Amino acid sequence: MKYDCKDIGLAAAGKDRILWADDRMPVLRSIRSRFEREKPLAGIRVAACLHVTTETANLMRTLQAGGAQIALCASNPLSTQDDVTASLIADYAISAFAINGEDGDTYYRHINAVLDCAPHITMDDGADLVSTLHSSRSDLVGNIVGGTEETTTGVIRLRSMHKQNVLRYPIIAVNDAKTKHFFDNRYGTGQSTIDGILRATNVLLSGANFVVAGYGWCGRGVAMRARGMGANVIILEVDPLKALEAVMDGYRVMQAAEAAAIGDVFVTLTGNIAVLRWEHFETMKDGAIVANSGHFNVELDLEALKRNAVGARRVRPNVDQYALPNGRRINVLGEGRLINLAAAEGHPASVMDMSFANQALAAEYMVKHHDSLPRGVMPVPEHIDVEIARLKLASMDLNIDTLTEQQKRYLASWDQGT
Ligand code: ADE
Repeated sequence: MKYDCKDIGLAAAGKDRILWADDRMPVLRSIRSRFEREKPLAGIRVAACLHVTTETANLMRTLQAGGAQIALCASNPLSTQDDVTASLIADYAISAFAINGEDGDTYYRHINAVLDCAPHITMDDGADLVSTLHSSRSDLVGNIVGGTEETTTGVIRLRSMHKQNVLRYPIIAVNDAKTKHFFDNRYGTGQSTIDGILRATNVLLSGANFVVAGYGWCGRGVAMRARGMGANVIILEVDPLKALEAVMDGYRVMQAAEAAAIGDVFVTLTGNIAVLRWEHFETMKDGAIVANSGHFNVELDLEALKRNAVGARRVRPNVDQYALPNGRRINVLGEGRLINLAAAEGHPASVMDMSFANQALAAEYMVKHHDSLPRGVMPVPEHIDVEIARLKLASMDLNIDTLTEQQKRYLASWDQGT
């Protein structure tokens, strides 16, 4: 079996943490038990490019229980948990290629190593695997029956590939399932982003001006949690509707230029490029903290900051302090990479439970139905979404009411009005 990890000796620690996470992933566990019996993925090779975390390890174990042969690499050079890679290799015989802090060349070497398995299914988070496959490894496309995509940024890239008529097989947008983005993007990103900022800096949020760029599901989650810790939250948005929602949710909304001068902590979660630029950095307060929690490290224009700074040094793990010509210092967290995974452990297992239940069931659906699916980006089938919500509630010992016959008749009727 081929693999590449930092230190295989970390496996025992990795296994303990994987099992800790598994205890918090009851929906995925129940899918794993069924997969063990039914083997819906027998003979299927899966190429996975995901954050290599304890939660991902449990997804890999589930696919393996279903009969799949898996090769896994990282979807971000800074998110890999090295003990997890080691345990996947040593304890679960999964071919994994991921080292925390790997450079760009190694990152792509690992993606190519995973593609070498000649996959039937791609499982991606951010679409680097799929874009590499379609550009430099297109000889492998013929084997592929379909894929899944985990995140908003990846789904946007895939839709653009489809629009340009280059996407060559069907991909299920796991991100768009309700049991994914309503929970993972909002509560997962909300908690883990604050976790990453606090682990990196240990700053007090109470009373701080906390600027959130982007009021999508992720931005909402972060804003909500920052407010819960007593911060004064300011939202930056380009979409008038979302901006209006932020206003009516009780936040201050303003332009980046205005917020730059008053913010203590800044987080970008927009999915876009150069959201905070030199024109903003140069007006920030001394000691301002700047982080990104969007998928790619493009949201902060760090090139401009590096060009204009008169000095830079690492002052704590995950904190680079830039000295500006005006004498002020700007603290950039996690090299502008997604801070929840760079400085913390990513989303908690209980929320990844639902995201990865979607991944497992989407892979099974793809294997069963690929013959009838057109190339392009398709939603997670509604019945899968509803089933995951039902299983999650059941795992929490929560019962909900059902419609009475009278209520069903009423909802189906039009004749009863005022
Ligand atoms: N994305 C965000 N948090 C994650 C986690 N814990 N595992 C895998 N992918 C993630």
